[in-house]
Amino acid sequence: MNISILSVFPSLYKDFLETSLLKRAQAEGHVSFTVAGFTDFCTPKERLDGPTAGHGAGMAIRPEVIGRAVEHFEQQHGVAYRIFLTPQGKRLDQDLVRDIARIIQEKKHLMVVAGRYEGIDARAQEKYVDLELSIGDYVLMGGDLPAMVLLEALLRYIPGVVGRSESVEKDSFSGPFVDFPTYTAPAVWDGKAIPEVLLSGNHAVIDAWRKKVAVEKSVKKHFEWVRSHCIQDEDRALAAQSIPPHYIVLMHDEVILEPGVTGTSSVTSLDIHDIARSAKTYGLEGYYLVTSLLDQQAIVRKILEFWETSGIEYNKQRHHAVSLVSLMGSLDQVMEAIERKEGKRPILVGTSARKCSGVRQITYKDQDVVWKEDRPVLFILGTAKGLAPQVMERCEYVLAPIEGFLKFNHLSVRSAAAVIFDRWLGINLVKLD
Ligand code: ADE
Repeated sequence: MNISILSVFPSLYKDFLETSLLKRAQAEGHVSFTVAGFTDFCTPKERLDGPTAGHGAGMAIRPEVIGRAVEHFEQQHGVAYRIFLTPQGKRLDQDLVRDIARIIQEKKHLMVVAGRYEGIDARAQEKYVDLELSIGDYVLMGGDLPAMVLLEALLRYIPGVVGRSESVEKDSFSGPFVDFPTYTAPAVWDGKAIPEVLLSGNHAVIDAWRKKVAVEKSVKKHFEWVRSHCIQDEDRALAAQSIPPHYIVLMHDEVILEPGVTGTSSVTSLDIHDIARSAKTYGLEGYYLVTSLLDQQAIVRKILEFWETSGIEYNKQRHHAVSLVSLMGSLDQVMEAIERKEGKRPILVGTSARKCSGVRQITYKDQDVVWKEDRPVLFILGTAKGLAPQVMERCEYVLAPIEGFLKFNHLSVRSAAAVIFDRWLGINLVKLD
């Protein structure tokens, strides 16, 4: 396998390629490198770059230079899989690393083009690129460090480069979970001991502990990765154990009726069983309905009674879902009920169709912020025109509004609940096997 690298600064690669595993991989014949500068493909006095067309400052790498380089490398090593490193490219992750590794093991020639300045002439890129790649959503001064990042990640998959291929397959991001923490001597450092279980000598117990810690850390710190890679039922069940308990409360009291006016709203049968079905689907532990009005409470009791009795035969699944529902007279009662059950006061997470000021706003990528507190989470949703200001003030966090790209925003509360559960707790696979 040959890897051709094209760069404005080829000397940057000298130490990199002569160090440690990469040096050994070349010595043992697993891989060879050809590094060249763009200027190697310029005629005398020709510049490798030119001013960008249109207005605005900056220089771009000229297309003929790329063309000559590709031709040269491919004459030497055969048709390459050509990767151009640019901040606009597809974001690199472990799945993509594995895919590229598979491709280049077939092709036997990888060409890596590290852009610089304002980039590479778009026509040359269009003609020659197989994959435009970015190492993350930030801009570096050039593509050379990204090229080295790519090579470090990729070469681990080339047989013989890393001693134990088993360690590659078990590493972080090879499945839905990150790796477990590692320790070495001394047994106590800085007042902290190596976890006792690791000194037990019992491999089965150690493996179980490592798995548990790895899953916990993955769920708390890498939930986006976990939810996009949890394909197997066992992995999902393991992950679910590390998600703190979640609840929902639907407020019919203390809601906005019209601008500046707060009051109560009527209960609806649909909101009871539809939200219950969503709550059950996403693993919530309970669904509380708050109304202080006695006639409204009577309606809710009647509906719940139906689902506890004849509803079982009518629709068993819905009966299971509705068994999550409890009727309460106030938000305080809900908070107390959860605290009694879980031993910790819930974190109240508000929701609103509009952006709120004076509250701690979070997004649907902030699970780590909320979950690090290790307390139950209570989503609070308002009926009518939303939660009253005094309720919003009680929330520790408020979730960003659910929005489309347009101005119209008029979701039913049960639709909003389903979207909120899915965005916060849902599986979101990036591949299906
Ligand atoms: N060149 C500059 N920034 C980059 C990035 N984030 N990824 C790949 N190439 C780059």
